[in-house]
Amino acid sequence: MESIIIKGGKTLKGTINISGSKNASLPLLASSILAGKLQLNNVPYLADITSMLDLLSSLGLKYKYIDKKNKNSIFLDSTDKVSSIAEYNLVRKMRASFLVLGPLLTRTGFAKVSLPGGCAIGLRPVDLHVYAMKTLGAEIELNDGYVIAKSKKGGLIGNKIKFPDISVGATENAIMAAVLARGETIIKNSAREPEVQDLCNCLVAMGAKIDGIGTSVITIQGVTDLKQVTHDIIPDRIEVCTFIIAAVITQSHLSIHKINTNHIKYFLKIIEEMGVNFKIEKNKIEVFKSGILKPVSLKTSAYPGFPTDIQAQIVTLACLSIGNSEIQENIFENRFMHIPELNRLGANISIEGNKALIKGKSSFVGAEVMATDLRASASLILAGLAAKGITKVNRVYHLDRGYEKIDQKLSACGAEIYRTKNERP
Ligand code: EPZ
Repeated sequence: MESIIIKGGKTLKGTINISGSKNASLPLLASSILAGKLQLNNVPYLADITSMLDLLSSLGLKYKYIDKKNKNSIFLDSTDKVSSIAEYNLVRKMRASFLVLGPLLTRTGFAKVSLPGGCAIGLRPVDLHVYAMKTLGAEIELNDGYVIAKSKKGGLIGNKIKFPDISVGATENAIMAAVLARGETIIKNSAREPEVQDLCNCLVAMGAKIDGIGTSVITIQGVTDLKQVTHDIIPDRIEVCTFIIAAVITQSHLSIHKINTNHIKYFLKIIEEMGVNFKIEKNKIEVFKSGILKPVSLKTSAYPGFPTDIQAQIVTLACLSIGNSEIQENIFENRFMHIPELNRLGANISIEGNKALIKGKSSFVGAEVMATDLRASASLILAGLAAKGITKVNRVYHLDRGYEKIDQKLSACGAEIYRTKNERP
């Protein structure tokens, strides 16, 4: 297993180019099942993307990297027969694999998809996905760890889906199922994330009829087929916010390019209130050395609220503010695993239920720490950049699931950061 070593205390300078969104890429890759052929550009080269491509290959899809070097453009072809069985050994590696359920069901009338199981941050049930498929007329059976879904003869039938809770993945599965269903589907309490919007925009380009994109009520008129398109994936807003925090935490002047500032409005509001100096232009942000940081009080929520995927990273930043901060995690039941590791680096954070209570200002001191999940690993890297001395972050395979070349991007701006292979004991 690999670790990342950071010698903290360096200020960064220069420009960072943001990669494409992991969480937009994954549903869009699954949507290739619907269209027959699809080209996606600006796909980040990540472990989770490779996992999804492996799953699609197991279903009979073919793909090739158009740019062999960076592997950020992919051409997918599902015109040959698509198997409809998504095996456990592939689905268990990456929960978003469950996003093939809607496309398989609506295209072939049958889908057998392994239940993804939970992960470090929570149980991650799929009841809302199953509810949406049933509402579109599918018969669902849960058997030996698989969801087995069959549509009636003639395919899925448009209907009113009223989600009791907001779910990004369930919304995406419902949309992909409904675009080829017969008749009208109205999805109420739909997720509004930019990644959901990017999926809808690509489906509309393919010929789908979708209204209400970006709102909590999406209306879909089913069509009979979709055509091949080329789609440029939106920038990764979570990566943007992570690098903005990297600039602030190292008191650096950094320029972050290839972003969409409309996707991070709430985050920018929060860091402005904390006293961060920055200037935004069309698709870039300049972060300047900030003075004393004020404490923060926030609750994570569905978009356009504060993203749960930035919670771990803002906790790290809050440690360096003067005063007491309170960060409440409302989306996942176990997303504070970075906190004991941050405390080992010198933070002073306590947990009360779903609230993290952070006493600032702490000074981070380098230590050996362990990554437990994707965004927790990012929060430890950020703390290491600010820490006095050497920080060793173990199990960085978590990091590589969601950040393309993060260590290379940071070292190119002056961070002292490198990877090591740990020999098995
Ligand atoms: C997506 O996961 C993202 N992943 C997550 O990012 C992100 O944290 C999450 O949305 C929330 O924004 C991808 O897009 C690939 P949900 P998803 O369904 O779709 C509960 C990262 O770090 N729920 O919106 O799985 C669920 O347990 C990852 O990049 C049900 O109860 O999230 C959670 O508490 C982590 N039943 C809440 O809803 C269901 O059927 C939100 O989950 C589905 C979800």
